[in-house]
Amino acid sequence: MPFSPARTNSEAPWDLFDSVAYHNHNYSSLRSDDRQILAAVRDHFLAALASTDPASLRGIDVGAGTNLYPSLAMLPWCREITLFERSERNVAWLRNEVVRYGDNWDEFWAVLCEREETYPEVADPRARLAGVADVRQGDLFDGLPGTGYDLGTMFFVAESLTTAHEEFETAVDVFGRALGPGAPFAVAFMENSLGYEVGELSFPACRIDSTDVVASLAGYAAPGLRVERIEVPGEPLLREGYTGMLLALGRRGGERTTD
Ligand SMILES: C[S@@+](CC[C@H](N)C(=O)[O-])C[C@H]1O[C@@H](n2cnc3c(N)ncnc32)[C@H](O)[C@@H]1O
Repeated sequence: MPFSPARTNSEAPWDLFDSVAYHNHNYSSLRSDDRQILAAVRDHFLAALASTDPASLRGIDVGAGTNLYPSLAMLPWCREITLFERSERNVAWLRNEVVRYGDNWDEFWAVLCEREETYPEVADPRARLAGVADVRQGDLFDGLPGTGYDLGTMFFVAESLTTAHEEFETAVDVFGRALGPGAPFAVAFMENSLGYEVGELSFPACRIDSTDVVASLAGYAAPGLRVERIEVPGEPLLREGYTGMLLALGRRGGERTTD
């Protein structure tokens, strides 16, 4: 049975998060569910940013963990990408990884390049990411390092950092408020997860479904928010108990501004 004792965010052992175990378990190769998510995020960003100059935006990935694919999805349009993360170990892992990311990410990049627009124009994505990535350590409940981000992602974080529904809502709220008006975003969630193991340790999750996702985003998403459901594939489960993945694609309400 999936089990996580009731724990608020501050009670979980984030600094002991086994980055290598998590990365190997989730991202050593491209799963079919991540492929579907990546393709949908790619299409959303291509449509939303069709007339945006390359390397002109400030992006943020909140709770980056050991996952580079949200940053890769934002890469062509960004002059700076903040990878914000609480865990000391994940921060160290990210700082090392962005210098020259591992070969496993090439198949993720290839999915982005399946559409022959914008992504293939980035000649050397490794060098580009190394140049734009800014890994920052912090606790999102204390606020993010900036405001008015032009583009944002938060993958498997808001529902996977606590068992408390109020903290799930606050995490989405912190993310939403950090985006500038009109900023495209992609937020991914585990549906009905009750917790997960990383290495020898267990981490909390909050049981949510698409109704919770829509409700949490309603305060700041512009009309047109979409929530897609990705079925659990016929591959080894990522964690016990979850019933699928949810992907919210939208834009922050209000007019887009340029700086
Ligand atoms: C399930 S992992 C998801 C990691 C990554 N985004 C992914 O897609 O695989 C949850 C992440 O949230 C981070 N996290 C937990 N609490 C946080 C907080 N208060 N502020 C920022 N990050 C936090 C954890 O360290 C961990 O990297």
